Amino acid sequence: MMEVIEAEQIEKALFKYHLELVSYIMGRIESNRPRKIVEIGSGPGTFTIPLLKNLEKMLDKFYCVDSYNRPYAQDREVLESKLKIEGFHDYVEVIEKDAKEISKILSDMDLVIGHEILCDLNREQVEHVIAACFHSLREGGLFVHSELSPWTGNRSEELLQILNKEYSDEPISDKTWFSPTADELAGIAHKLGFTTIHIEYKKIPIRFLKSAAIEMTRRWRVNKKFLEKYHEEIDAIGIEYPMEQVLYCTK
Ligand SMILES: C[S@@+](CC[C@H](N)C(=O)[O-])C[C@H]1O[C@@H](n2cnc3c(N)ncnc32)[C@H](O)[C@@H]1O
Repeated sequence: MMEVIEAEQIEKALFKYHLELVSYIMGRIESNRPRKIVEIGSGPGTFTIPLLKNLEKMLDKFYCVDSYNRPYAQDREVLESKLKIEGFHDYVEVIEKDAKEISKILSDMDLVIGHEILCDLNREQVEHVIAACFHSLREGGLFVHSELSPWTGNRSEELLQILNKEYSDEPISDKTWFSPTADELAGIAHKLGFTTIHIEYKKIPIRFLKSAAIEMTRRWRVNKKFLEKYHEEIDAIGIEYPMEQVLYCTK
């Protein structure tokens, strides 16, 4: 278990977490050798940078698409600065656009990938985004999405759900879920025309405790009532990520 106790340890721990997730996912789709890739919902690049490091420049073009609406408006700058520092800015293009519209500007993609975007959307938006991903892929191309599973295995994982569902200060849509379930996503992908659909689960044990947990609640834009109510419990057991549920769909 990766235990993150100090706020200063968060960046390094999150990088390690996402690097492990990315190598797991890319290992499963190695034979596909994607060279034209679009990431939807890149945000500040938490998943993007580990992904680009994993790909080691074995690609022709990489697009980061994000709407950067409130509360994420500042994140484009963060992503662009990371891309520059890491030397990726030459072949990565950041596009500020709703993912529902990507098929209007991108086609023939080998891979459309996203991390923690569908959980931000309501059912109708999820359908529109997956449909746009489908249309921007080439025949045989892959759509892959990873997000935290709505299944909780212990109280520390449950605390993350409670804060997300009941104490989020700035919900960006009228969604009713922590994340759509894997079954819901598979059904939608099937309805939209994807031929092969797989779901996998990957637990990467990480728990935020003490000041790191408090800092994470700030990053997750959690109402202060959450800390007032659960402070002691968080102090004792921390907040833990549940399994990642990874959806793989072939066009
Ligand atoms: C929870 S954050 C995840 C960010 C990043 N992928 C990560 O793993 O940390 C969700 C991101 O999806 C973006 N997003 C939400 N709805 C979107 C849409 N319809 N089109 C494009 N981006 C969207 C938000 O702007 C935000 O950057």
